[in-house]
Amino acid sequence: MSSLAAQVAEHPRFHLLPQTHQLKALMTIIRDKNTKRSDFVFYSDRVIRLLVEEGLNYLPVVEKEVTTPMGVPFKGVSFQGRICGVSIMRAGESMEQGLRDVCTSVRIGKVLIQRDERTATPTLYYSKLPKDIADRWVLLLDPMLATGGSAIKCAEVLKEAGVKEDRILFINLICSPEGALHMLEKFPGLQIISAEVDEGMDHRKYILPGLGDFGDRYFGTE
Ligand code: PRP
Ligand code: URA
Repeated sequence: MSSLAAQVAEHPRFHLLPQTHQLKALMTIIRDKNTKRSDFVFYSDRVIRLLVEEGLNYLPVVEKEVTTPMGVPFKGVSFQGRICGVSIMRAGESMEQGLRDVCTSVRIGKVLIQRDERTATPTLYYSKLPKDIADRWVLLLDPMLATGGSAIKCAEVLKEAGVKEDRILFINLICSPEGALHMLEKFPGLQIISAEVDEGMDHRKYILPGLGDFGDRYFGTE
């Protein structure tokens, strides 16, 4: 791991998935350029499910007491507030089902941001968010964090809509160390949950070793 990547992994607001053999095997499949599309989708979905489950661990809870069928009280917890998802179109839409699978009828906002293929500069085209988003915790969904430009633009849209920084959990599969640090510095309340931190980026701002263009591989537009 490079020193920059180690700096990210140790950051208090950056949460790496447990680096288990299972996760490593799933990531190896989706990073392999020879993986066929149906497998890319299947194994990406498995990683996404792990990420969403991990993301929920960073939501605040309050104490709650219930009575079990044995007539005995049990001191547990329940989630404190309401959540919603926001996906950065298009690749982030691949993560919506993973969120729906664990949070039934969750509201999902969408923000269309596209990187210029030549300059990697992001442009915001469209956003549609739940009306009461300022009262919710937001799971921000995008599989790839490269320069951080797209995710930063999206977090700005969320802040303009009244979302507090410390209520944004950004969930992604792979990040570059530069992009992750840029985002953590820009938003001192926001948290990032990621499966792996890579080494850096190439001259076109693609993550290395990375997995190529996630959206193209997932949606079959290569
Ligand atoms: C990809 C990816 C992120 C962005 C990451 O989307 O899904 O949104 O690039 O790069 P950045 O951190 O340098 O901004 P892209 O704009 O290529 O569109 P897509 O979702 O249609 O693939
Ligand atoms: N978007 C991707 O899909 N992959 C990268 O490596 C960078 C941006």
